[in-house]
Amino acid sequence: MTHIEKRLRQVLHRAQRIVALTGAGISAESGVPTFRDAQTGYWEQFDPGELATPEAFRRNPRRVWAWYAQRRRLAEQAQPNAGHRALVDWERQLGGLRVVTQNVDGLHQRAGSQQVTELHGNIHRDRVFEGAVDGASDAPELPRCPCSGGLLRPDVVWFGEALPEGTVEAAVAAVREADLVLSVGTSSLVQPAASLPLEALERDIPVLEVNREPTPLTPVADWSLRGSAGEILPALVGAATEAV
Ligand code: NAD
Ligand code: APR
Repeated sequence: MTHIEKRLRQVLHRAQRIVALTGAGISAESGVPTFRDAQTGYWEQFDPGELATPEAFRRNPRRVWAWYAQRRRLAEQAQPNAGHRALVDWERQLGGLRVVTQNVDGLHQRAGSQQVTELHGNIHRDRVFEGAVDGASDAPELPRCPCSGGLLRPDVVWFGEALPEGTVEAAVAAVREADLVLSVGTSSLVQPAASLPLEALERDIPVLEVNREPTPLTPVADWSLRGSAGEILPALVGAATEAV
């Protein structure tokens, strides 16, 4: 066993307060497309400026709702995979594992994770759209709030929007208290999520990345394991919980 593997085993055995930062890649093996994977990523096929901004909704709420309704159906049909379940097993054996996810699909909660912070909202929830919408009155089929009659929108964070109140603070606090931070299945491109592992590195808290591809975090992470979350996470949990 190399020195690096020995060090990783030690860190895994000792970790008591783990924060798992997850992105679309952890749901890829559940059949939920990512955003930036070559060919299959949403942003390789669609322009987020037309589907995932408040302006896009204002201009054409029907088109935005059609896309999110299709994504919602996909998320409802998807099943948590071995990567989601490994984090649940680790949480149950350890007690101190928090998931901080950019994902909106709700699969961590469906898998059984109890401590989940959703940075970008949840596609299974709606909320009233604040502001005027072009031609909303001639779109009677769009969902409206039964009390206010206001046009509903998916309760997810769009480009240019602030993240839900308190989520970033909660995520930063969790990372600062952690003794191990995992970054799983995220391209580490989008702020403020991409800065969370750097908060840990500034405090000499070990950071372990799991990704099929290298990302901007790869060169600075303590370990970057190349491969699928559905394979690597169960192996990590096995190594963390094996009898010493
Ligand atoms: P941001 O400006 O930090 O987004 C930066 C990244 O988003 C870019 O690196 C790029 O990868 C991508 N991006 C933005 N505009 C794009 C475009 N026109 N084409 C391709 N890629 C584009 O994000 P923000 O504007 O500050 O949004 C705030 C938060 O909302 C971000 O954290 C973002 O992840 C999130 N968001 C959520 C959804 C969703 O469907 N849940 C969609 C978009 C953004
Ligand atoms: N296992 C591990 N990693 C994977 C897997 C897998 N099975 N499949 C894909 N990946 C990796 C890809 O290599 C990529 O680095 O997951 C990452 C997915 O990156 P993105 O598609 O950019 O998704 P994410 O990082 O979650 O995007 C961040 O951008 O558009 C916004 O709000 C949206 O939350 C999203 C945010």
